[in-house]
Amino acid sequence: MGDAIRHAGIPHGELFITSKLRNGGHARDLALRSFDETMARLGLEQLDLFLIHWPVPSQDRYVEAWRTLVELKEQGRVRSIGVSNFDVNHLERIIGETGETPVVNQIELHPRFQQRDKRDFHAGRGIRIESWSPLGSGRLLDDPTIAGIGRKHGRSIAQTIIRWHLQQGLIVIPKTTHKERMVENLDVFGFELDADDMQKLQALDRGSAGRVGADPATAAFLF
Ligand SMILES: NC(=O)c1ccc[n+]([C@@H]2O[C@H](COP(=O)([O-])OP(=O)(O)OC[C@H]3O[C@@H](n4cnc5c(N)ncnc54)[C@H](OP(=O)(O)O)[C@@H]3O)[C@@H](O)[C@H]2O)c1
Repeated sequence: MGDAIRHAGIPHGELFITSKLRNGGHARDLALRSFDETMARLGLEQLDLFLIHWPVPSQDRYVEAWRTLVELKEQGRVRSIGVSNFDVNHLERIIGETGETPVVNQIELHPRFQQRDKRDFHAGRGIRIESWSPLGSGRLLDDPTIAGIGRKHGRSIAQTIIRWHLQQGLIVIPKTTHKERMVENLDVFGFELDADDMQKLQALDRGSAGRVGADPATAAFLF
């Protein structure tokens, strides 16, 4: 087990460890080497989840990368494999060409960018959506509508948004550098948003104008 994990005193069995393949490493040999380096740094024998970070369609090597992840899974070096920032056409292609469906697609998703047009496709194939920048990278934390809903339940804006993700069956990965906020963000199981709250939150969707990150169809950075 890795030093960092061992020093924190937390057994691996109590953690779920995910890593991602960087964009410049889609070629099979690079992907295998990069996975080995990741595992050496983590000091792990088996990873819980490995994702392809972005499809980078202009590079057109994400099917090769996906085949390599399938290989790693078959070797037992990773328990589950998935993708990140894949649009429906990218998902259709990897599933069609390899017969292997990712368990997770980690995509930008928050009340201002709800990606509802993609939900049925994922549900129909059993791919779980994991929302990145679930708080809009912090930009939603002064939203008056969400603040009002939070007040009604005696909860913060962050808790209200995290609850909104969970009630839709979305996996949610809010990030904070503050311990007390981490505790706050985990304390979201003692209340429930009602249909009126959910409707108000749904109305905050701005479509692609609400994005805070890059568009997977055109993103071409290689880190
Ligand atoms: N797959 C991808 O391509 C991709 C892209 C972007 C991000 N991600 C992942 O998504 C995760 C989160 O994304 P993110 O950091 O961009 O955005 P986020 O989780 O939506 O928002 C983080 C911001 O919210 C603040 N915050 C968090 N909890 C708070 C609370 N309870 N009260 C007040 N402020 C709070 C944080 O500030 P403090 O730290 O100061 O508390 C930080 O500024 C990360 O793990 C990241 O790696 C993935």
